[in-house]
Amino acid sequence: YTAEHQPEGNSGGWQGQSRSRDVARTGQGGGEGNVCGIVGYVGKRDAAPVLIEGLHRLEYRGYDSAGLAVMHRGRLRVTKTAGRVQDLRDKLSGQTAKSTIGIGHTRWATHGEPNETNAHPHTDTAARVAIVHNGIIENAEQLRDQLQASGVRLVTDTDTEALAHMIAAELAEREDVTLEDAVIRTLHRVEGAYGLVVLDIKNPDQLVVARNGSPIVLGLGENEMFVASDVSALVRYTRQVIYLEDGEIATITASAYHTKTLTGTDNSDNKTPTTVDADAGDYELGEYSDYMRKEIHEQPDALRRALRGRLDDRFATARLGGINLDARQLRNIKNVKFLGCGSAYYAGQMGAALVEELARIPADAEPASEFRYRSPVVDPDTLYVAVSQSGETIDTLMAVQELKRKGGQVIGAVNVVGSAIGRECGHGIFLHAGPEVAVASTKALTNMAVNFALLALLLGRVRDMSAANGQRVVNGLRNLPEQVSRMLNAEDDIATIAHQYAAADHMFFIGRVRGWPVAREGAQKLKEISYVHAEAYQAGELKHGPLALIAREMPSVVIIPSDDLVAKNLSTIEQIKARGGPVIALTSTDIPEGLADATIRVPRAEPELEPILLNVPLQILAYHAAAKLGRDIDKPRNLAKSVTVE
Ligand code: AGP
Repeated sequence: YTAEHQPEGNSGGWQGQSRSRDVARTGQGGGEGNVCGIVGYVGKRDAAPVLIEGLHRLEYRGYDSAGLAVMHRGRLRVTKTAGRVQDLRDKLSGQTAKSTIGIGHTRWATHGEPNETNAHPHTDTAARVAIVHNGIIENAEQLRDQLQASGVRLVTDTDTEALAHMIAAELAEREDVTLEDAVIRTLHRVEGAYGLVVLDIKNPDQLVVARNGSPIVLGLGENEMFVASDVSALVRYTRQVIYLEDGEIATITASAYHTKTLTGTDNSDNKTPTTVDADAGDYELGEYSDYMRKEIHEQPDALRRALRGRLDDRFATARLGGINLDARQLRNIKNVKFLGCGSAYYAGQMGAALVEELARIPADAEPASEFRYRSPVVDPDTLYVAVSQSGETIDTLMAVQELKRKGGQVIGAVNVVGSAIGRECGHGIFLHAGPEVAVASTKALTNMAVNFALLALLLGRVRDMSAANGQRVVNGLRNLPEQVSRMLNAEDDIATIAHQYAAADHMFFIGRVRGWPVAREGAQKLKEISYVHAEAYQAGELKHGPLALIAREMPSVVIIPSDDLVAKNLSTIEQIKARGGPVIALTSTDIPEGLADATIRVPRAEPELEPILLNVPLQILAYHAAAKLGRDIDKPRNLAKSVTVE
């Protein structure tokens, strides 16, 4: 991303550059993949506590098993657990042996059982080499067959184990082969996606790191070096980082690093360290018991950050320098299409509505996971917006690559600087939500929507939107942080309602027009963290089928923005009540007393911006329903924060 106008200095390092290589392929067979967190350390400290601390930070990325390998007295010491990082810490608690080099891993299995054997790190038979790996090796089955044919006994179901044996075999072949060369030779035989770190007991002062489709970042300390799949694991120790590109390999020692391409070109000179725009405090829970609640409460600040330097009162418009489009190019855009997955897709729906309303340009949103597979017609006059908190979601990344292949004009809307989607797009809107740790997206979604309001305002003002109308939106945006704060003050009342309905097995979320993406995101939030089955419906569609499900046991949340559809939404409530269904009304307008069984009120905003506010109580509702049901809120079952494999 190019530098963006941010007078208050929060541009957050828009240093990404465009990549054009077709990388990050993922497998659909062969291999046992995983989405996970990777850490590595070489330096002067005791490695195990540093690795455990890093794994704790990364646990949100995957959490069905964990492990680490350190080197002690010339031998590998590998500890694994089928549980959480805390279990790993407990397992290590009696160990006093110190080590200054090691690698660690927390895993979310996509194929294969999440048991202790399959947990990383994996080693070769002689336990010379240990490896942690994120991604999927597509030709794993073939590689495993070859190894078995040559007499290697494989002990896990994983694709990663094959890499450990192959690297060890390369090292054994010739005395003078370096660890880096052995890894390169091995990777030349590998098809698939990986971020990996290798430790070799015969090279006790170095780690070799490689990336192809799975993020890897080096952390530069003083006489110590760190590696991780995500900067969150590093910021406690250093904010100076180097992002590895796809197709690159690095060798790190305590005092130096060098990088080269897998084709052998040394490119260390082109690597300038970046200062991370977050510190350890951003990842601390502080007074909160979990990240989701913390992140819900961070929304006023996150919104302020997103708006800082981007509201232009003089011309009643928005400044979004990072998109790198001048007025003429903005005017030439005939359509806008948002692409994202899950909540990012619903945020895209909110964005599409804002663009249509404020700029009067046809706009829509589509799940990136569908777009990439359906041979889309790519229109040169459409602005495509790839939406992703993590910037690593594989479906969204692949949609961007498909677009670029077909000459589409695509910008990113991402929260993580240096992420794959940000760099692939080259230009875009940085969300400024701050680090989001909980699996359930809250502040990132809110910031997506507010950034799309800025985009819509900008597109509107280069067209027919009047200055007066633009100023109305500017003022409305400026009010949002304080309005969200007010809603957060109503948390206890919303919690009471959540507790009352948490026992339901199913819930409907009903909205129309502006309320529709809000309903979808509300249902998503409830189901993902509470496991209560929740479905969103457009209000007008109810009587075409789902009304048959309305009963006393089926509560409905009905969303009623202050628009010209209030009467219609009230009659939807009456239809549901008439069939015995309980109703929670979520509204920014006055509705008749006693019509709904419970009412959640939000402050009235500028009408186009209301979805941004209406969404917040539904986060709180989902949170307290999940808390009441005793769920593991930050780490819901079967999910991972960033979905870097299919
Ligand atoms: C949000 O609560 C979900 N966990 C999920 O739908 C998420 O929004 C989706 O996986 C996309 O992630 P991204 O924004 O990092 O691309």
